[in-house]
Amino acid sequence: MGDWFEVRDYDAAGRIGELTVPRADVTVETPALLPVVNPHVRTVEPARMEAEFGAEILITNGYILYGSDDAREQALSDGLHDLYDFSGAIMTDSGSFQLSEYGEIDVDTREILEFQHDIGSDIGTPVDIPTPPDVSREQAADELATTQERLELAAEVETGDMLVNAPVQGSTYPDLRERAAREAYGTDLDVFPVGAMVPLLNDYRFDDVVDTVAAAKRGLGADAPVHLFGAGHPMMFALAVAMGCDLFDSAAYALYARDDRYLTVRGTEHLEDLDYLPCECPICASHTPDELETCDDAERERLLAEHNLHVTFGEIRRIKQAIRQGNLLELVEARARGHPAMLDGYRALGDHAEQLEATDPATKDAFFYLSGESAARPEVLRHHQRLERLDADGEILLTEGDPNAAYDESWRVVPPFGPFPRDLSEVYPLNAEVPERLDERAYAQAADGVARLAAANPDVDFTLGHTGWPARALDRVPEAVDTYELGVDDAFGDDEGEADDERA
Ligand code: GUN
Ligand code: ZN
Repeated sequence: MGDWFEVRDYDAAGRIGELTVPRADVTVETPALLPVVNPHVRTVEPARMEAEFGAEILITNGYILYGSDDAREQALSDGLHDLYDFSGAIMTDSGSFQLSEYGEIDVDTREILEFQHDIGSDIGTPVDIPTPPDVSREQAADELATTQERLELAAEVETGDMLVNAPVQGSTYPDLRERAAREAYGTDLDVFPVGAMVPLLNDYRFDDVVDTVAAAKRGLGADAPVHLFGAGHPMMFALAVAMGCDLFDSAAYALYARDDRYLTVRGTEHLEDLDYLPCECPICASHTPDELETCDDAERERLLAEHNLHVTFGEIRRIKQAIRQGNLLELVEARARGHPAMLDGYRALGDHAEQLEATDPATKDAFFYLSGESAARPEVLRHHQRLERLDADGEILLTEGDPNAAYDESWRVVPPFGPFPRDLSEVYPLNAEVPERLDERAYAQAADGVARLAAANPDVDFTLGHTGWPARALDRVPEAVDTYELGVDDAFGDDEGEADDERA
């Protein structure tokens, strides 16, 4: 691949990047949304998407253009940019999705890629095979081999300065996805869509989406722009961006509008269920649900599609701002509260903390602890790794309370991080904002931090002074560490009680 993609800022594995699209002579800022333009039904005109919604790139179906006589001739003679009156970048798909829906298409990779080139596409797509989730491993591997052959063929086709997608398949087998990604990255192709996600997305299997993206990312270099093919619901953009996705395409804005569905960042509503329009966009500010209901069908569809687009682009801007400020994971956490399946997705993200840690910046705006899921953030993992490298000597009190001169040193303890020397108190992430009323996972992680520190320093005498941690957290603290509850069992104080161990 060429040097078409540059990352500017990271937060977790999410990034703001610049995708240079040479044939369109434009640079697209990522994360970016590609509205899907249906060659036959333009619910919102592409020129308006550019002027009023800020679309820098769109996607349309090369195979549908190829198969329809009128549109095909016009696309060939005028070019896509004139046909759509759109000056940004245009990506085209190949018919693979039709292949997955209807079982066959009558075109091969060379022919459809050359056609995409001839109609002026800026980013073309070979005919990959979108293997669905949960098929046999044998089927997934066989189809992947065919996809890989086609990627290699695509790299040989004469396509000038058109960029070419290298879709990553492999069904729900993470090792196949990772291998597919590594092989795709090894070709000369340019953009890396994670494919066949539509069935997972339609079934709200966001945890499987996260695991699949994580696997693909392991096989790709950091300089690979990653597209989540078929993902257009704004409620999951923050989650997908945090895993490292850069491009999304939305047919949802139009498909949902067609049957009166109203997108929000927390989920989907039916227009008939709305007494109010919970959105700030120009459509919602100037209409009531009744007014929308009583429009004629085409008008209502257009207005709902515009609202859906506003919400979708708005979420992309919010995500970019969150990356800049370093609070993308707080945004993901908020989105995870919109639907239980989103919470599964966020919990799955926590399983990949080590992968996210690799690109997570060393300092950001203050870490906000917002739920038990915050305890699984990469910053906590990184602190635990760091604990093993901190110098410790003598008798050390690890305490949630004040320093105690009876010890050589008194370190602070802050759940979910665990212990650290006091002079790190103002350093990210230890300057975290943490609620007064913590949950068990915060204490458990803090206890694991104590255990990690103790294991790395077997010759140091550690004592833990805590504010009444639950027994299940204290059980994670090794025997060698004395523990007492502050203000209750003051080990060196007057006489108020005994240490936890003696009391037990
Ligand atoms: N659109 C949605 N999913 C896919 C996919 O897996 N491959 C291609 N080419 N297009 C898609
Ligand atoms: Zn709106």
